[in-house]
Amino acid sequence: MYHEELKSFPEGFLWGASTSAYQVEGAWNEDGKGPSVIDMAKYPEGTSDFKVASDHYHRYKEDVALFAEMGLKAYRFSVAWTRIFPQGTGEINQKGIAFYDSLINELLEHNIEPIVTIYHFDLPYALQQKGGWLNRETIDAYVNYAKTLFTYFGNKVKYWLTINEQNMMILHGSNIGVFDKNIQNQRKELFQQNHNMFVAQAKVIKMCHEMCPNAKIGPAPNISSIYPASCKPEDVLAANNFSSIRNWLYLDIPVFGRYNSVAWSYMEEKSYTPTVQDDDMEIIASGKPDFIAFNYYRTTTVTKNEYDNYLADSRDEQPLDTAESGVYTVSSNPHLEKTQFNWEIDPVGFRVTLRELNERYNLPLLVTENGLGALDRLEDGDVINDDYRIEYLRKHIEQARLAITDGVQLIGYCPWSAIDLVSTHEGFSKHYGFIYVNRDESDLKDLRRIKKKSFYWYKKTIASNGEIF
Ligand code: BG6
Repeated sequence: MYHEELKSFPEGFLWGASTSAYQVEGAWNEDGKGPSVIDMAKYPEGTSDFKVASDHYHRYKEDVALFAEMGLKAYRFSVAWTRIFPQGTGEINQKGIAFYDSLINELLEHNIEPIVTIYHFDLPYALQQKGGWLNRETIDAYVNYAKTLFTYFGNKVKYWLTINEQNMMILHGSNIGVFDKNIQNQRKELFQQNHNMFVAQAKVIKMCHEMCPNAKIGPAPNISSIYPASCKPEDVLAANNFSSIRNWLYLDIPVFGRYNSVAWSYMEEKSYTPTVQDDDMEIIASGKPDFIAFNYYRTTTVTKNEYDNYLADSRDEQPLDTAESGVYTVSSNPHLEKTQFNWEIDPVGFRVTLRELNERYNLPLLVTENGLGALDRLEDGDVINDDYRIEYLRKHIEQARLAITDGVQLIGYCPWSAIDLVSTHEGFSKHYGFIYVNRDESDLKDLRRIKKKSFYWYKKTIASNGEIF
């Protein structure tokens, strides 16, 4: 549909930007912080670890001042569980509380709405050693941790996100560093972890509603439309399979309180079904989200899977390259351009995804990630001409506005990332931010902050409520 007149972005639209604790903070073992699975993981040689990252832990005031200068209305960040509970559970580390309290105050003083992700990949290592999400004690630890956040920050934070990209942890956890290859290959255990996370999430949503009646809470999976590679009915079916397994499984549970039937029958066929305890489904049905947050980078295209017993999970190509025997094979889309990091670029797919979510769940939507990873270059005079990023974001914002005109209830847009940070598995050179951080993979240089061209562009976009491009 080509609308002649576009609706405006709604009043109070949350123009924001995102980060996650371990990718931006650094100070990995300071002020009582315990190790997380990310701190203990191995990453490709030559890429940065997360020990210093962007040093946001020490420079957050300067960073928040820059976010305010950019005009951000919202800032989406995560709390490092191991700053609050160094061993995942036990005694509260008051220095961790003090850091996030001060960060939240700083944001509020600058009229920036905090959007807080409770858990973004960095499970406490101590819990992982006891079985991680396979052990139901982790459910209790997560609930206790969330309760602590609600107790300390519940009167200041209006938007909470339960778990970042649970679906990517399950499909690609070992690439991200959340578990090792052994666990990744034990699919039955993996889907048990998944189930336990669903139970934990529902408990926390319910608790949030009880403890913070003025706040809203939702899940934050990575959602993208799945295209069939051709109009062959078998390819369409494969796309439908993958949609259920990759997307709807993660939203049917919180919104409808039940397992997606295609995803469940896939797990049955593969012998991956989790053990569901007596009252689990009741708990799950009792924690309904107020909105759906989701991360969108690109669509995925699939064909029918032609192979027997073929399971691929390659880290050389796009992170989502997977295939499963008789279910789907991810292929590339010849109609789309790619980023320097081989990720397809699909702004129209963003509109399609927004519409699909709207039609399926009829809830307000909040985009918590969208952005372009690129090898930015610092030019003489402290200039970064990241026109490619502006182009990417502009096209996605245009599609968001079309989706709003289509009737989608979009409440905010928080691109990845507010400031440069360490990519999940491709190091520091994969820049996403509006603000450049002067360091490379191994040389920390002076870590000074430099505004990119996209910083000024986004500032104008926000000031005009998405009218000026
Ligand atoms: C999302 C994650 O998957 O994508 C972020 O929530 C991540 O943590 C972002 O950084 C971009 O992915 P990558 O692999 O380029 O860092």
